[in-house]
Amino acid sequence: MSENIIYCYSGSGHCLNMAKSIAKALGDTDIVMMRSFPAVTNTQGAKRVGFIFSCMAGGLPGDVESYVKSIQIAPGTYKFAVEQYAGYLGCGMRKIDDIVNLDYWTGISNHSTAIWLMPHKLTIPPTTPKMAQKRIDKKAAEVAKNVLAGVRSEKRPPKQPVFELMSKGLAKTNVKRVKTFAANDKCVGCGTCEKVCPRNNIQLVGGKPSFGTNCIGCLSCVQMCPTQALNIGTITEKRERFPNPTITADELTKKVIHID
Ligand SMILES: Cc1cc2nc3c(=O)[nH]c(=O)nc-3n(C[C@H](O)[C@H](O)[C@H](O)COP(=O)(O)O)c2cc1C
Repeated sequence: MSENIIYCYSGSGHCLNMAKSIAKALGDTDIVMMRSFPAVTNTQGAKRVGFIFSCMAGGLPGDVESYVKSIQIAPGTYKFAVEQYAGYLGCGMRKIDDIVNLDYWTGISNHSTAIWLMPHKLTIPPTTPKMAQKRIDKKAAEVAKNVLAGVRSEKRPPKQPVFELMSKGLAKTNVKRVKTFAANDKCVGCGTCEKVCPRNNIQLVGGKPSFGTNCIGCLSCVQMCPTQALNIGTITEKRERFPNPTITADELTKKVIHID
């Protein structure tokens, strides 16, 4: 068992990039991905257990809540969490805290990856992706320092019932939205979308992606497509994608990443 375990959900690589930075600073860490049921659920023997995840529609992405409920953490283990979001923390951090009783939690704003909703650079004050990454790197260093020092948060994360309602609404919206997903003629049939879909909801048929009805709306397929061929109706055609440039589709879809 590694000294540290970080459970990570990442749709387009930003939280995985941050998890790797924190893991490098902590040393001897297993990053266990939560894009599907986690490969490790028993953390007995680990000194620290962390959770790094993105805000999605005001709440937790996909099945993260039920995955976290399946994780066993021994008493005395230091538990921490970091959430990335575009504009607000939402109710996800509180949900994690309700399950594991966090010692330390924090959040950081990044650009938006929900490009059906808004262009990714629509932040106040305006920043470039490079500046956003710099801010994330700085936050990762701060988190690692605090985790190593065993810092404890004074307050619990906010409950945010409005965001709870909003996240429940997403499931319904996804069923409608997935019907508008389509690949244009930039598609080279590479299968990246099929590979990164956490729900196995995409299959290549005749070299083009075909979408099922099991979409969680994470936009991994749209963000990670190397030719930017996938679109949601016509809304995203002219919108720049925002995948993390340091994370490949292969890495994003690993079950466990060990960092020494
Ligand atoms: C489908 C979807 C919904 C999102 N919803 C929210 C939201 O409600 N509030 C928010 O502040 N950010 C939201 N975001 C932005 C992400 O939390 C943010 O861009 C994060 O850095 C993405 O990290 P990741 O690539 O590791 O998943 C959303 C992103 C996606 C793809």
